[in-house]
Amino acid sequence: MQRRYTNQELLELARKSAARAENSLEVLENMIALLKEHRPDWDWVGIYLLSNNRLVLGPYLGAATDHTEIPIGRGVCGTAVGENRNIIVDDVAALSNYLACSTATRSEIVVLIRHDGHVVGQFDIDSDREACFTHEDEELLKLLSPVVAQHCFVLAALKEQCGTV
Ligand code: SME
Repeated sequence: MQRRYTNQELLELARKSAARAENSLEVLENMIALLKEHRPDWDWVGIYLLSNNRLVLGPYLGAATDHTEIPIGRGVCGTAVGENRNIIVDDVAALSNYLACSTATRSEIVVLIRHDGHVVGQFDIDSDREACFTHEDEELLKLLSPVVAQHCFVLAALKEQCGTV
């Protein structure tokens, strides 16, 4: 089995991969693939973009989800934006304001992505294992945010203007 890369090593890999990418979408896709490969317990890994005051699903790896658009305040994702904070949920079954993607999901982390101080998107990651996510994972996603932030901003603006990502 591949050894567990540290947060700093993943940041270096992410930066290199972003530098090689041909466009903003590819930067996000590469980031998702990197996380999925190096954190095996992370069963669903995605990025939502904040566009027209709602969250729009960007690249993801994992089961298909019905939640391709989420209003601010709804679910864990919308709450994170509404309350301007990152959220770790150890047990999603204990939440009333939760939007289920898969019945197998047990825990979730949402980390906001900011560009020039404004929220432009978020990492949303689910695990089938209860209490999978730690503050070290939050730190990793915070470290990685600047690598994708400008690209989230560009893609969210495109979505607002053209309706496509
Ligand atoms: N669980 C999230 C919705 C996104 S799906 O899990 C991919 C929420 O409660 O906002």
